[in-house]
Amino acid sequence: MKKFGIFDSGVGGLTVLKSLIETNKISEVIYFADTKYFPYGIKPVDFIQKRVEEIINFFLKEEVKEVIIACNTASSTAYDYLKNKFSIPIYSIVNSALSGLSKFNGKRIGVLATRRTLESGIYPLMIKKIDPQMEIFVESCSEGPLLGKIEEGVIEGEVIERELHKCMLPLLKKNIEGIILGCTHLPFISPVIRKNYPNLTIIDPSQEIINIIKLENEKVEEIRVDIFVTDKELEFQDILKKLLKVNWNVKKIDWERSEVGAFKREIDKKI
Ligand code: DGL
Repeated sequence: MKKFGIFDSGVGGLTVLKSLIETNKISEVIYFADTKYFPYGIKPVDFIQKRVEEIINFFLKEEVKEVIIACNTASSTAYDYLKNKFSIPIYSIVNSALSGLSKFNGKRIGVLATRRTLESGIYPLMIKKIDPQMEIFVESCSEGPLLGKIEEGVIEGEVIERELHKCMLPLLKKNIEGIILGCTHLPFISPVIRKNYPNLTIIDPSQEIINIIKLENEKVEEIRVDIFVTDKELEFQDILKKLLKVNWNVKKIDWERSEVGAFKREIDKKI
């Protein structure tokens, strides 16, 4: 029985955790939300890389055997930097999205992602390797309040529809036929996306994760989930109730006194 470590800047990776739990084929998982530094999508790349390295070191201390980077921003900016630094398997959510492309028959695909994911160029690069004929259009959803609202647990209603539409408009003008939810916060609003853009094929990487990791062979009776955040533990507990309908205890860890603290001071000057 292996222990998984899943992380994101906030609630987004819970969409991945949820689909894994629904398989009944994982027995132990730690979810880590770096809530103190949400959103990652506009932070400097070197900040994200160092932060992600710290998180994986934390997982190792907790005896995690496999890590899922359930954050597109962290996957697109830090995966290459990290993958040779650790001996345990590390999975990128971007690869999960790519595995979902097999269900898409069109030739024009949109990607909604954070500013840093867009800038990394990872989606066009990887998709072109799979299908050189595909036309790919990436739009950032980091500028408006959309991701912040989802982080607060708001997943429907007027504000969500309006802000989503602002991000979608440039993509719709390109006549896309499908959309990759290139930020793990977005699957929480996929019912809104489906309702407003019924003609688009939706590729949801949180649903595809089971294609890229190895689950237990047998169904498990009980799963142990430990949740860690770096800030706002009570708010996170409420959000878990609202979004996942669970009452898990959330532990806050404070790294400010460690070397991350020194790094943070350096980075605060840059943000
Ligand atoms: N969930 C993160 C992702 O998939 C986005 C949120 C953020 O900007 O931190 O990129």
